[in-house]
Amino acid sequence: MLILGLNIFHADASAAIVLDGEVKFAIAEERLNRRKHFGGFPALAARACLDAVGAKISDVEHVAVGQDTHANLAKKLEYALLNPTKILNFIHLRERKVAMRDVRLLLSKALEVDSRELRFREHHLEHHVAHIASAYFCSPWEKAAGFSYDGSGDFVSTMMARCQGNAIEVLERVFLPHSLGSLYTMICEFIGYTKYGDEGKVMGLAPYGEDRYCNEISKIVAPKNGTFQLDLGYFKPLGSNQGMQVLADGTVRLARHFSDRMEKLFGDPRKPHAEITQRDMDLAFALQSRFEEVFFHSLKHLHERVPVDDLAIAGGCALNSVANGKLFEHTPFRQTYIQPAAGDEGLAIGAALHTYHSVLKQPRRHRLRHSYLGPEFSESRIQSALQSAGLPFRKLHRTELLEEVAEHISAGNVVGWFQGRMEWGPRALGNRSIVAHPGRSDMKDILNARIKHREWFRPFAPSILGEYQHEYFEHDHASPFMLHVYKIRPEKRKLLCAVNHVDDTGRLQTVTREENPMYYDLISAFHRRTGLPVLLNTSFNENEPIVCTPEEAIDCFQRTRMDVLGIGPFLIVKPDTQVDMIATSSRTKKEII
Ligand SMILES: [Fe+2]
Repeated sequence: MLILGLNIFHADASAAIVLDGEVKFAIAEERLNRRKHFGGFPALAARACLDAVGAKISDVEHVAVGQDTHANLAKKLEYALLNPTKILNFIHLRERKVAMRDVRLLLSKALEVDSRELRFREHHLEHHVAHIASAYFCSPWEKAAGFSYDGSGDFVSTMMARCQGNAIEVLERVFLPHSLGSLYTMICEFIGYTKYGDEGKVMGLAPYGEDRYCNEISKIVAPKNGTFQLDLGYFKPLGSNQGMQVLADGTVRLARHFSDRMEKLFGDPRKPHAEITQRDMDLAFALQSRFEEVFFHSLKHLHERVPVDDLAIAGGCALNSVANGKLFEHTPFRQTYIQPAAGDEGLAIGAALHTYHSVLKQPRRHRLRHSYLGPEFSESRIQSALQSAGLPFRKLHRTELLEEVAEHISAGNVVGWFQGRMEWGPRALGNRSIVAHPGRSDMKDILNARIKHREWFRPFAPSILGEYQHEYFEHDHASPFMLHVYKIRPEKRKLLCAVNHVDDTGRLQTVTREENPMYYDLISAFHRRTGLPVLLNTSFNENEPIVCTPEEAIDCFQRTRMDVLGIGPFLIVKPDTQVDMIATSSRTKKEII
């Protein structure tokens, strides 16, 4: 049975294909059309899904969309009636959404087929149910508590659920305009981070602040009856989705969220690109601190209703890896499952799996253990791309490639690492990564100066061999998708100085051989040389969506000051790269092309 899942006309539009209950392929449209957070119709992603399983759209039996414009209609109407100035906006948005609902027409146009050939049944699933489904149905559990939170989706910002067998039973919803995601975005905007998706930057800034504004932020958000409440006086009117707009061309744009009361309380907002002051850092600190407090309060309440150890979390706020890392100490939950695409691209998987398990009552067999659900490219395609780019390259056997790349990393060189299938979700997890030495004090500056050009306060992340995690980190719950931040043990902080954040934490990726043998073996080769079972891992890109194709990787390699590129079996070393060459390497075996 073939099910196509879609996230359409919403940020991070995406598609996923599920065959007999197993997610075979999934991709966000931004990786294909190269427009970050693209929020239109995922035409290229849908086509890529079908190609990946060798199917035509006429073979698809079900199409599932993680959005239901009919959901929570009474609440939407109630809000509109209470806010008459918003009624026109509300009607306009609704008309637009209804026009977008003709999925049959949209798919037939996108895939250039006659709509009469399409035989699928169409399913629309409420946004947050799709989020929770994306986590729970990918988890190994038969029973779990489900929690989803973000800015908004189908007029809801937070959902709690009991997940059991094939069913997701919704227990509570927090309706707009109350939204932890909107709170985060509002304060991000106030301190000058005004783009969609900037919240992660502010999470990185928070540890530089001090506890000066926590009381003030408590006036804006407060835990209440197991969830939370905002003081709406600090916000521009929320509620009819005007906080985040998806323009006709798919661009996602944020409108100003904060009201004049924020300026009265905290002074002038910071202009984007202006110097960051202590005030901005302290605000980020207070925001993250209160966000965590409300999150833990809500989780404790959820645990009272669903008293189990296991928690499936999703939604854009589930990308707050700092909060995820702390929840074990602050709530009764003992285990989390957070799907790699916890944000809105994950809706495609959630909607498809919900259709399979909850609507069609099919049994659960599939567990999503890794994030490598995107495209991969043949050796001949990679070779042609290298030849077209005019780059001198060598083809190596697997062990030689790993050893030589590990030697380059040990010597302090920056390596682009392009292998196998692209990751699903916002994190590069060893297949579209830039890797470097985690223990060099100058590495963060080198990466920023040469390639990434990121804000000075943003940390780089470590990938660690799973069996060493407890030696280096103060928590041993696995973090396979780089969605937990833990304290680094005091004796290891200096050794990992390039990935040790200012508060002595790291947003780690736990790497196991079962999930990614090539990446595991690369880290192992580095470990043998340096004694460190860790690599610095950052996404393979430069102010763009993560590279998808060999051509994009080669282009990024050429226009930045990366030293080395390991792409498939090929190695490219820029001419001025220094390395203490490997004593054990036997160059005679290498096939020189
Ligand atoms: Fe969402």
